[in-house]
Amino acid sequence: MNILLLGSGGRESALAWKMAQSPLLDKLFIAPGNGGTGQYGTNVAISPLDFAAIDAFVSENGIDMIVAGNEDPLVAGLYDYFESKSVKVCGPSKAGAALEGSKDFAKRFMEKNGIPTARYRSFTAETLQAGKEFLESLKPPYVLKADGLAAGKGVLIIDSLDEAKKALEEMLGGMFGKSSATVVIEEFLSGIECSVFVLTDGNGGYRILPVAKDYKRIGEGDTGLNTGGMGAVSPVVFADEQFMAKVESRIIKPTIEGLGKDGIVYRGFIFLGLINVGGEPMVIEYNVRMGDPETEAVMLRVDSDLVELLDAAASGNLGNLELRHDPRPAVTVMMVSEGYPGSYPKGREITGLETLTESIPFHAGTAAGEDGKLVTSGGRVISVSSTGTDIADALAKSYRSIEKIKFEGKYSRRDIGADLMALAANK
Ligand code: AMP
Ligand code: GLY
Repeated sequence: MNILLLGSGGRESALAWKMAQSPLLDKLFIAPGNGGTGQYGTNVAISPLDFAAIDAFVSENGIDMIVAGNEDPLVAGLYDYFESKSVKVCGPSKAGAALEGSKDFAKRFMEKNGIPTARYRSFTAETLQAGKEFLESLKPPYVLKADGLAAGKGVLIIDSLDEAKKALEEMLGGMFGKSSATVVIEEFLSGIECSVFVLTDGNGGYRILPVAKDYKRIGEGDTGLNTGGMGAVSPVVFADEQFMAKVESRIIKPTIEGLGKDGIVYRGFIFLGLINVGGEPMVIEYNVRMGDPETEAVMLRVDSDLVELLDAAASGNLGNLELRHDPRPAVTVMMVSEGYPGSYPKGREITGLETLTESIPFHAGTAAGEDGKLVTSGGRVISVSSTGTDIADALAKSYRSIEKIKFEGKYSRRDIGADLMALAANK
């Protein structure tokens, strides 16, 4: 079959790498792709949000399935646009994508379906005063979330009550544009987070992928600004059989059933951002796609044909297809450009990739420069993934590989997975 994958990051590189291994794949196109995705298929210069251009490309190239890597096209209604056409879409309908596109919708969905999550209330400019009073009723720190998509920046966690009230006013006043016209205020939960990925066929069938943990802050010891993600590790020591049994019965099943009850079409990935509160899983957020950089570790641990699974999900019937997990741990460590997540230089030459022997360099912010050179084009540049006998072994491989990859101003966190290894040692 012919597949069109939408996106351009490390996540799409890892999905493309995995799809390219499938005997079911004829042609893979990546729109727009990056400086590395051409190894797995053909890059095409189309924006994932330009549905008319995608439509024309699909017809001209006999595309059988569109797979959305990131949330934007799904929230904008990619599934619905193609619903009456012959191409399949792996991803939720617009109504399903609201689980990520609207935090207020996601909270109401969880409340209605008895899914454990932080206590919350939503406010608009008209109810600003009530919002301030609600803040007074909570203990610090205060968690304020822009309702809509805000490029991962819409969540503020604030220690002082006065500052939280000020932030609420600013958010409702347009700090994140229309995205913060509604603000969700919720109780702060304390615990370690993990990412659980589920592939569902929209007819009650689902499979759980390997669990991962990502590292969001730029600095070691989880300090400094939030980023798109600096690394990931899979498996996660506390997400053991007992914890995952709770996740499945309290969160995954009610989510799938809740979507069904509301008649929401959802054929694709559900990403549960969970927090372990004293052994009890609670939902921090839903996303409607795979995680980045979690995918760059998780795909190394999927020991089944991804194309077959995605096709079955998009066709509405996972049947009895297995999604096998490779027991070997996998990690990914992100190499970023100096200055990221603030402003950073672009166009710096990248060398050394061909010397790697023990890791896979998944391209994220790379592009083809002049004279066939590979250059940096984003803050997150390359996600260096490895499997190993244990997490420490996999990390050692990624860190050795990072030494061999050269570009001016490269930076990586050196402590990816350190917290989980300490937890495992104390278990
Ligand atoms: P989100 O954009 O929803 O993933 O939120 C960004 C980050 O804020 C999460 O990954 C958590 O680390 C943190 N966060 C969000 N909600 C809460 C909460 N209720 N309690 C504690 N931390 C939270
Ligand atoms: N790694 C978190 C995300 O993809 O949203």
